[in-house]
Amino acid sequence: MSSTILELKNASIYQRESLILSEVNVSINKGEFVYLIGKTGTGKSSFMKTLYGDLPLNHGSGHIVNVDLRKLKEKQIPQLRRKLGVVFQDFKLLNDRTIKDNLWFVLKATGWKNKQEMEQKIDEVLEKVGMRTKNFKFPYQLSGGEQQRVAIARALLNDPELILADEPTGNLDPQTSIEVMEVLQQINKNGNTILMATHDYALLLKYPSKTLKCDGQKVFEVVQKTQKQV
Ligand SMILES: Nc1ncnc2c1ncn2[C@@H]1O[C@H](COP(=O)(O)OP(=O)(O)O)[C@@H](O)[C@H]1O
Ligand SMILES: [Mg+2]
Repeated sequence: MSSTILELKNASIYQRESLILSEVNVSINKGEFVYLIGKTGTGKSSFMKTLYGDLPLNHGSGHIVNVDLRKLKEKQIPQLRRKLGVVFQDFKLLNDRTIKDNLWFVLKATGWKNKQEMEQKIDEVLEKVGMRTKNFKFPYQLSGGEQQRVAIARALLNDPELILADEPTGNLDPQTSIEVMEVLQQINKNGNTILMATHDYALLLKYPSKTLKCDGQKVFEVVQKTQKQV
């Protein structure tokens, strides 16, 4: 059984007047782990931004987590973001507060009220990324890999239907990238759907999965030449 969590049909994506991607036909099913690859400047981030409502979709059609991107109004964007977990290259943690308070802040901002439930949820997501024992630390006291794991935990707070990760390993060294990938793989095994933009081909070889590529203003699925190592 498969259910579609994201579908774009004949979509074009613009940055102001410049066409970045055209005739985009993409669909992602619940439970998949999908890469979005392509050289710098080929439109990966523009694609991601369209999905989380940062760029409007004015051409073609698009549905994500049951939201119609063509009909998306400004005031519905927070609601859309709550159904998505977004992870960025630069972590975007608040440096003036602890890990726990970073997560607390997001829960408050998304309407959580019950303190015991909030504590529980924070413990639960930090446990998933192996950071529970460091919840008292400040972001600057953590390594890049640890900060990114916290950012992934933050993305999990509202049980997102889909996680969008835009170059989550882009600021990390190869060994730390693997550490973060292991976390994403584990989360995917537990049922989360993930779309991850990257230009790190080493990760693709190590963790083969469905791959979309941005090239020449198009997005197409690439057939993996490498086989899973046993
Ligand atoms: N805010 C913006 N305004 C205008 N053009 C932009 C903006 N952001 C990106 N672009 C352009 O869109 C193209 C695709 O960029 P981007 O989506 O960031 O690619 P990638 O993430 O693959 O590196 C590039 O040519 C870039 O210069
Ligand atoms: Mg980018």
